[in-house]
Amino acid sequence: MDEAKHTRLTRPVQGAYAMSSLIEFEPLIDSTSRAFVTQMEQRFAKQNKICPLDQWMQMYAFDVTGEVTVSKRIGFLDTGKDVDQMMHYTGQALDYTGIIGQVPWLDWYFRIKNPILCYLRPTSNVLSFTMKQIREHEKSPKGQTRDLLSRFMLARDKNPDLIDEVLLNDYTNLNVSGGSDTTAIILRTLIYQLLTQPAVYAKVMGEIKATLQARPDNEDKKMPISWAEGQKMTYYQACIKEALRNHPATAQILPRYVPEGGVQLCGRFLPQGTVVGFHRDKALYGDDADAFRPERWLEAAPEHAKKMETLLLTFGGGKRACIGKNIAMLEITKFVPELLRRLDMKLIDPSHYRVKSTWLAVQSGLDNLYST
Ligand code: HEM
Repeated sequence: MDEAKHTRLTRPVQGAYAMSSLIEFEPLIDSTSRAFVTQMEQRFAKQNKICPLDQWMQMYAFDVTGEVTVSKRIGFLDTGKDVDQMMHYTGQALDYTGIIGQVPWLDWYFRIKNPILCYLRPTSNVLSFTMKQIREHEKSPKGQTRDLLSRFMLARDKNPDLIDEVLLNDYTNLNVSGGSDTTAIILRTLIYQLLTQPAVYAKVMGEIKATLQARPDNEDKKMPISWAEGQKMTYYQACIKEALRNHPATAQILPRYVPEGGVQLCGRFLPQGTVVGFHRDKALYGDDADAFRPERWLEAAPEHAKKMETLLLTFGGGKRACIGKNIAMLEITKFVPELLRRLDMKLIDPSHYRVKSTWLAVQSGLDNLYST
């Protein structure tokens, strides 16, 4: 909550997340997407077996975050397993944060009464993984990798008084644990909506095909959709925005204190210290704001569409906004088109789709049958 401290801690690593440098991550995302498709083909499509896609989306998101952070997949996709029960424990952490996190004194009480909890934090398996990767990075020659951890280490060299081992661990661990569940939620929303709305699915497929056809003859048509190509897929980009809007990853408001002097908001004066939060707004997004309808983003007048985007708080806003937003957009823009063009998918029963909301709004019931 200390703004000055937050700025001090984030400033040295802000540049690492800039879109201009993230483009270098495209090959890492592509290799994870290919690994995902291969697993789907071998484990499910060829054997005509049902795939619990809700879990595999999270396995993808975990592994791709591992790739961009430490140049290594954690191993979910390759083993097909919940490595070191990381998914299980992060799920527990979400429940804890969502319930106890709303009652800070109770959290304080549990921690004081149970100091062991501090060491057995539910995310500690992710922490063990990232700490091991840090040790390995320390041993390899500088400049060999361009992943986020290497960039954090360069930031440490430039800011030795600020960035100690604990902060380096925090940067790295927060990335892996903060970037996986959230991204998985948006991927699940997209897959669920595309597979249950044939008209939306057909438009996205049409756009993918047109993008591939537009490639010059000397370019490999098999290469996954690039970031540059994905940017031009205006309908799919509208689908992404709609997924972010329709099903924000956080199930609770991101509470903020009204600053000194109070604020005039939605026709009311809120005195300083009031806790506020925002989410869906029919006045802004239309009376059908509850529906998943990507067209709303394309139909809106440019000024209004800009406002809709600015007030979309799925990644938070202002200084505290998600630092990994660019990475998430890169992953989502590239992964779903790759999956759709490589495999035909069919949900077994859309009515099995469920959402469990504690800290994040996590979906289940995305059982899928492939045909290649
Ligand atoms: C669709 C996917 C994602 C969503 C919806 C999301 C959402 C959020 C939100 C709501 C916050 C808090 C913002 C606030 O307090 O106002 C946040 C913070 C953060 N996110 Fe994300 N995130 C996503 C993906 C990622 C990825 C891929 C990474 C890293 C690779 C990441 C790393 C972080 C970090 C490090 C913070 C803390 C930033 C700070 O304190 O300054 N996130 N994210």
